[in-house]
Amino acid sequence: MTVPTIRGVIRRNLLIVFLIALFGGGGGFYLLLKNAAMNDAEDEARLLLSSAMAIRGYTTQHILPNLAKLNDAVFHEETVPAFAAQTVFRSVSAGDSAYTYHEAALNPTSVSDRAGPFEVDLIRQFRNDSKLKELRGILDQRGQRLFYLARPIQIKDAKCIICHDTPARAPKAMVAKYGPNNGFGWRLGDIVGVQLLTVPVTQQFRSTLELVAILMGGLALIFTIAYFALTAAMEATVAAPLDRLAGAADQASRSTSERPELPAAGAHEIRVLADAIQRLRVSLAKALAQLGGKS
Ligand code: HEC
Repeated sequence: MTVPTIRGVIRRNLLIVFLIALFGGGGGFYLLLKNAAMNDAEDEARLLLSSAMAIRGYTTQHILPNLAKLNDAVFHEETVPAFAAQTVFRSVSAGDSAYTYHEAALNPTSVSDRAGPFEVDLIRQFRNDSKLKELRGILDQRGQRLFYLARPIQIKDAKCIICHDTPARAPKAMVAKYGPNNGFGWRLGDIVGVQLLTVPVTQQFRSTLELVAILMGGLALIFTIAYFALTAAMEATVAAPLDRLAGAADQASRSTSERPELPAAGAHEIRVLADAIQRLRVSLAKALAQLGGKS
């Protein structure tokens, strides 16, 4: 095994510390920012979902009982909680396809509300675990990254059953419009579908990566400067004077005739060492001269 040199030890340790700091710092910063972006998205999604819930509630409590009294031949979609919530949300999200709100069902009244594969999977999870009240996460859709918040749609209110029980019980005008085959047979307590709300996070995640790249670039620059400054300082004050000192001490131990120059520069400790070696050289020479005189 070769004995490490002081230069090697310093360089290696500096590099190790810098690499740990660079990747540890970059990674930690990335996690922090990503977490903040997720929290922001979640807050936004929660707010929007509460508005959708409020519209649903308002429709069930205030619109449905009153419009139902009209009892005319035309079916008013305005009385349908799902219709109200989805319609209002479409104007809220106007133009931004990343903001979506969908009430999807396995057996929907309106074919446009049929659950897609992802929604079917969410409904299955909610049905399998009745304690599960919410699911959230990241979804990739058409090249966009979306944060989603999903809640089960459970039939809790007997008012819902009026329209979703049997075609015979539902308003005639509604059956005439949507047909007698879809969206019936729902029972109180059933989880029939899912509310799925998405908000965009593509841009937030991209900014996170940009910030991390800037931070790591800055750190790398500082570390490179620090590396060269520290190694150069170490070379000038310790490594090079120590080399000369080691050479001089080595020679002095072998012969008294050769007197290589001892380093006059270097760190304080090196100078103390050089002076000490100089004194040893002198006393060694004196001792040898006395021995020579006696013989
Ligand atoms: C007045 C009749 C009526 C009532 C009351 C009603 N719905 Fe509906 N529901 C409909 C119709 C019609 C649609 C299709 C709306 C559309 O065109 O988007 C629908 C759609 C839905 C959807 C979207 C999936 C689908 O089937 O198209 C869900 C979920 C839903 N209703 C749940 C409920 C719940 C829960 C309640 C009780 C709070 C309720 N409905 C009350 C008539 C009704």
